[in-house]
Amino acid sequence: MADQATRLRNLLDGRTNRIESARVIAVTSGKGGVGKTNLALNLSIGLQKAGKKVLLIDADIGMANINLLMGRVTQRSIMDLVKYKTRVEDVIEESNFGIKYISGVAGVDKMLNASHEDLRIIQRKIVDASNMVDTIVIDTGAGLSRYVIEFILFAREILLVTTSEPASMADAYTIVKAYNEFQGIGRVKLVVNRVRSLDEWNATADQLNQTTQKFLNVFLDPLGYVYEDKEVATAVKKQEPFLIHNPNSPASRCVRELVKSILNGTRMPPVSKGWRGVLQGIFG
Ligand SMILES: Nc1ncnc2c1ncn2[C@@H]1O[C@H](COP(=O)(O)OP(=O)(O)OP(=O)(O)O)[C@@H](O)[C@H]1O
Ligand SMILES: [Mg+2]
Repeated sequence: MADQATRLRNLLDGRTNRIESARVIAVTSGKGGVGKTNLALNLSIGLQKAGKKVLLIDADIGMANINLLMGRVTQRSIMDLVKYKTRVEDVIEESNFGIKYISGVAGVDKMLNASHEDLRIIQRKIVDASNMVDTIVIDTGAGLSRYVIEFILFAREILLVTTSEPASMADAYTIVKAYNEFQGIGRVKLVVNRVRSLDEWNATADQLNQTTQKFLNVFLDPLGYVYEDKEVATAVKKQEPFLIHNPNSPASRCVRELVKSILNGTRMPPVSKGWRGVLQGIFG
């Protein structure tokens, strides 16, 4: 992946469009399937409930998962922004949860054919959205494709999601190593998803941070964690954000605290799983 990063660095010039007036947070990961889309969606809803005006952007290639998680269908997508006449307000959708969103593309081909210049056009138009919202959350998809890098460079803050599994941590490390090759990368904040205990969160964050500090001289902001929670899968099946589906489940409790951590810049405090969460832990 590091070689790939060197190639990507040569491809991109490190400079990109940047938004000054809104907070832009890219949610990303090394390994796929670690919970980015769920986190991006539920954090967006949580931030909106905390008084922010949030735009969520599905910038994952070919997946268009945010629609699915909200049980919605739309014909408009981020790729329409490439068209000369399409303005950002033409592709912004209103959700049932207060947040605005821009859908991803459901076909891989369209996005894969997007050129560097196309992505620049898309980003320039997203900058226009900063008149309408104060927080923009971008689901970048996993790994180190040039699409991911383009959106990472676009954001001021990076929320790197991992689980405590060694493969997921190894890929998170590789991603941070690759970031190091780029200039202008924002601060990297770490979220560990699907932890079973506070100890698991602390151990994962510490281990990853010790490695990045030792070998890369990079400090990751240990932002917080989300508990392993069956209600997440249930909510996904019902096509409802888990924060809405069950606001008291362990994962929802964590998201609310994560929102506070994002807003206050503090490390997330210990979160109680609640009695249902404790029962889940005992009876699986
Ligand atoms: N905290 C959690 N507890 C239990 N299950 C979870 C949790 N977070 C995510 N999952 C499970 O992981 C699945 C994948 O989550 P999600 O689609 O958000 O991952 P992703 O990182 O966006 O994946 P991709 O890389 O494919 O885009 C969910 O459908 C859910 O079943
Ligand atoms: Mg996803």
